[in-house]
Amino acid sequence: MCGIIGYIGNKSAEIESVNLLKNLEYRGYDSAGVAVILDGEIKVTKAEGKIANLEQLIVSTGANIGIAHTRWATHGKPTEVNAHPHISDNNEWAVVHNGIIENFEMLKQEIETNSGVKFASETDTEVIPQMLEYLSTSHQSTISTFIHACNRLKGVFAIACINKNIPDTLFLAKRKSPLYVAINNDEIFVASDPICFVDKANEYYTLEDDEFCKVSLNCVEFYDINGNNIAKSTIDMKDFEQFKGKEQYPHFMLKEINETPTVLNRIMKTYRDSLGFGKITKEVMQDINKIVIVGCGTAYHAGLMGAKYIEKFVRIECNIYIASEFIYSNPIIDKRTLCIFVSQSGETADTLSAQELAKSKGALTVGLTNVLYSVLAKKVDIVLPVCAGPEIAVASTKAYTAQITILYMLARYLQNIKFNSLFDYIAQIDTLANLFTLPNLQPIQDLSKELVNQKSSFFIGKGFDYVSAEEASLKLKEITYINSSAHPAGELKHGFLALIEDGSYLFVIATDEALLDKTLNSAHEAFARGAKVVLITQLDVDTSKTNFVYKVLQQPKFDDELMPIVSIITFQLLSYYTSVAKGINPDQPRNLAKSVTVE
Ligand code: F6R
Repeated sequence: MCGIIGYIGNKSAEIESVNLLKNLEYRGYDSAGVAVILDGEIKVTKAEGKIANLEQLIVSTGANIGIAHTRWATHGKPTEVNAHPHISDNNEWAVVHNGIIENFEMLKQEIETNSGVKFASETDTEVIPQMLEYLSTSHQSTISTFIHACNRLKGVFAIACINKNIPDTLFLAKRKSPLYVAINNDEIFVASDPICFVDKANEYYTLEDDEFCKVSLNCVEFYDINGNNIAKSTIDMKDFEQFKGKEQYPHFMLKEINETPTVLNRIMKTYRDSLGFGKITKEVMQDINKIVIVGCGTAYHAGLMGAKYIEKFVRIECNIYIASEFIYSNPIIDKRTLCIFVSQSGETADTLSAQELAKSKGALTVGLTNVLYSVLAKKVDIVLPVCAGPEIAVASTKAYTAQITILYMLARYLQNIKFNSLFDYIAQIDTLANLFTLPNLQPIQDLSKELVNQKSSFFIGKGFDYVSAEEASLKLKEITYINSSAHPAGELKHGFLALIEDGSYLFVIATDEALLDKTLNSAHEAFARGAKVVLITQLDVDTSKTNFVYKVLQQPKFDDELMPIVSIITFQLLSYYTSVAKGINPDQPRNLAKSVTVE
C-alpha cells in the first residue's frame, strides 16, 4: 500500500533513497519515483512499474536530500504522471504519501478556484503539495504551514516532503499509516518500515497519529497537532537482528517457507513460559462467554482454523469474521467477548477499524501479530507475538503457519484453564518443531509443471482440512493467477460439481482419519466426472480405496490435529514452483501489496 522514504546525508540522495526503497517494494510496485533538491531546485525522476525501472533512470547528481516512493495505485491509474513524488505548481514543494486523502476533491476545488492552480495528476496526493503552496503565504514558519496543511486533510496518511528553499530539512506527518525516522551520526533515514534501517542505525523514532516531525542533520523536532513541541524516545533496532535478506534463496517466498522449523522453535521459546498467554488468566476468562476472531485474507484463514481449534478444545462459542464485514455488521459483542485480531503486518486498515469497533463495545481485544511495533500491537489490550520474523514475500506463508500454531496452543491453554486439565501442548509442539522437515520437493515440482497450463483448479477437505483447502486455494490463485476455489468436501454435489470437466485438478486434503472415507467418497464423485484427483494425506490409506487417485502427496505423520500446520507447506511450495514455472515473480504478484493500509 505504498512505501515512502526520506534521506539526508553525505551519500548520493538518489542512489541511497532508491536503495532504501527496495526494502519497501512489498508495499506496492505499480510505479516508483524520487525527488531531490539540487542547486536550489527540486528534481524529480519517476517510472512506471517496479523500482528496477526507476533505478535505470537515476543518476547521482551530488544531491544529499531526497524523498522516494513505491506505489500501489488507489486513486488514479498506475501511470508515470500519477507516480509520486508530486510537486506544487510553483515547484517549491515535493511530497510522497502513503494512504488516502478522502476530502481531496473538495480541497482541490477550493485551491483551483482560489489560486488558479491546475492539478497535473489524477491522484489524491497532489492536493498536499498544492495545499502547501496555497497556504504558505499565510503562515509564519514552514513547519506551521506544514502542520496547518496536514490538519486540513481527512483520511489516512504518512507524508514526507521537502521544500527547495530549505534544502537541509525533511517534513514528516503521520495519521494511521506508519512512519519511522532513524538518525545516524551523519545520516537521516525516514521509512514506512524500520526494516529499512537495518545495518544503518541502532535506534529509531516512531511517529504516532497526528504527530509531525522536522528533521535535519542538526536537529530533530516533533510536534503535536497544535504545533507544540513533544518529546519522544527512541526504540532499539535489536528486533531486526534476524533479518538477513534473501540469503541464498532466489525469492523471499522460498526462504520464508524454509524458515518454518526455525519459526516453530521460536514460538516454543516465546510461549513456553507465561510470557505467551500469561495475560489471558483464569480470572480474565471467567468473565468471557464468547470469542470472536477477525482478520483478512490469509489471516482470516488462520482465524478460521483457530475458531475450529477453540470450539473443539475449549467448547466456547467462537465466531470468525472477515474484518471488512465485521465493521459493517453491527456485531453482537460486549465486555464479555474476547476478540482476537489476526494480522501479520498489524497494519491492515479493515482489521484496525474492526479492533476500534470491538474496543468501543467494551470487548477485551487481543492482537495476534507478527509486527510488534505495528499499530495493531499498540492498540490491543493483549499482544500475542506471531514470532515469524520479517515476512517480505507478498504471499503469507510462515506467518500463517505460525498463526495457526499459536491459535492451536491458545486453544489448548484455554482448555487447560477451563477444565483444570494439564494437556502438555508445549511438549507436543516441541516434538513437532524438532521433527519437522519440509516435504520431498520432486513430486511437488513435477506437479507444478502440470499446473502451468491449467485455467482452474479445485481444493476440498472436511473440518480442519477444509480450512487448509481455503488457504491452499488462495495461495495458488494469488501467485499463479490460476482460478482456484475451495469447498467443503460434502458440498460438491450442491453446486460446484458443475465446474468439473475432463482433466480438472482436484486437490483433496484428508488428514483426519475419522473423516477420510467421507472425503474420499466426495473425491470419487469428482473423479467420475473427469477430475484428476491429487490426494494429500499422512494416513496409510488402503489402496483399494484410492485406485481412482491420480497422485498422492504423502505427508509426514504427526498428531491429526497438528496436520494443518504440516500439510499447508506442500501447497505453499506447490504454488511457489507453479508461479516460478509460469515466469511470475512470486514475491510480487500482480495487483497485490503486502500491507493493505486503506479500506
Ligand atoms: C495472502 C496475503 C493476504 C494477507 C491479508 C491480511 O497471502 O498475504 O491475504 O493475509 O492482506 O494481511 P495482514 O495479515 O497483514 O493483516
